[in-house]
Amino acid sequence: RTNNLKMEGSSNLRLENCRAKGGSPGFKVAILGAAGGIGQPLAMLMKMNPLVSVLHLYDVVNTPGVTADISHMDTGAVVRGFLGQQQLEDALTGMDLVIIPAGVPRKPGMTRDDLFNINAGIVRTLCEGISKCCPKAIVNLISNPVNSTVPIAAEVFKKAGTYDPRRLLGVTMLDVVRANTFVAEVLGLDPRDIDVPVVGGHAGVTILPLLSQVKPPCSFTQQETEYLTSRIQNGGTEVVEAKAGAGSATLSMAYAAVKFADACLRALRGDAGVIECAFVSSQVTELPFFASRVRLGRNGVEEIYPLGPLNEYERVGLEKAKKELAGSIEKGVSFVGK
Ligand code: NAD
Ligand code: LMR
Repeated sequence: RTNNLKMEGSSNLRLENCRAKGGSPGFKVAILGAAGGIGQPLAMLMKMNPLVSVLHLYDVVNTPGVTADISHMDTGAVVRGFLGQQQLEDALTGMDLVIIPAGVPRKPGMTRDDLFNINAGIVRTLCEGISKCCPKAIVNLISNPVNSTVPIAAEVFKKAGTYDPRRLLGVTMLDVVRANTFVAEVLGLDPRDIDVPVVGGHAGVTILPLLSQVKPPCSFTQQETEYLTSRIQNGGTEVVEAKAGAGSATLSMAYAAVKFADACLRALRGDAGVIECAFVSSQVTELPFFASRVRLGRNGVEEIYPLGPLNEYERVGLEKAKKELAGSIEKGVSFVGK
């Protein structure tokens, strides 16, 4: 760490002690991949979250600059930067929540699965660090392909003897955010008033919006249903193509990640009735992992809700989703088995 970061650390330590003495509530949160396209706005938004007392920013590049920048924001969280693998353990020790947006993003023409070869190894290494340094932390996994990286994380934790399925959550919140936005556009309503459950996984046909269960209750023509389902399933590709080689969704993803992390922190604090969609270890279908609505609590996932009544269009979509998901999950599991 540079001298600058050391100085930052010592003055921040006084603030941290001061908060602790005053009994200020607050959680310790680490972002792994904090200097990236998602990581930077995510770090900024987490620094603004009053539930965060300590924010650790870890990456293999550029964390001194990002940390210096974010640490000047006059909000309560103490910020520390960690650079390179030799500082991973310090970054993770004592964390309550670890958010992982580390890894390469798509370029036009690629699928999320094309990222597997690079991102699988990154996620494995980071999760080995979590097992060792903060095995009780809640993990929010963003790195793609989520349908495979979550099973990879689970296998790493199993190998280390630290696996608690309630604490490992694949972040599918961006699908819900998009679904709320696109449905609101069609209905001519405010997206903040819309709640669309999106189940399955986080890639193409595995993203299954349940438009028959939108709140407030509403109905769509077949044409609207097909348009909305396709737009939600291809939302990521829409952004990848618009960015034309400069990456994938970062700003909407940082927004979605913070929305999800905030729900996890409120649940850790003991708030009741915190319900979100996430890709988790599940018995809702015959697959070992599946995204659906879950209730979050002090231990992470405390209840997984069944899918509820599906219409014929959704039942067909579910079969397609499960077929693709099964292969992606197996690919993740066998990567760690190797
Ligand atoms: P990016 O390339 O801008 O940033 C990734 C960061 O990860 C970089 O700063 C890089 O240095 C860092 N990194 C690489 N190897 C690392 C390691 N071993 N340890 C720590 N950090 C490491 O990419 P991005 O746009 O921020 O996207 C990151 C990932 O998130 C991609 O895999 C992308 O596909 C995924 N993503 C997921 C969702 C979702 O809904 N779950 C949405 C958008 C993007
Ligand atoms: C998204 O949905 O935006 C992300 O999964 C990134 C991508 O590759 O589409």
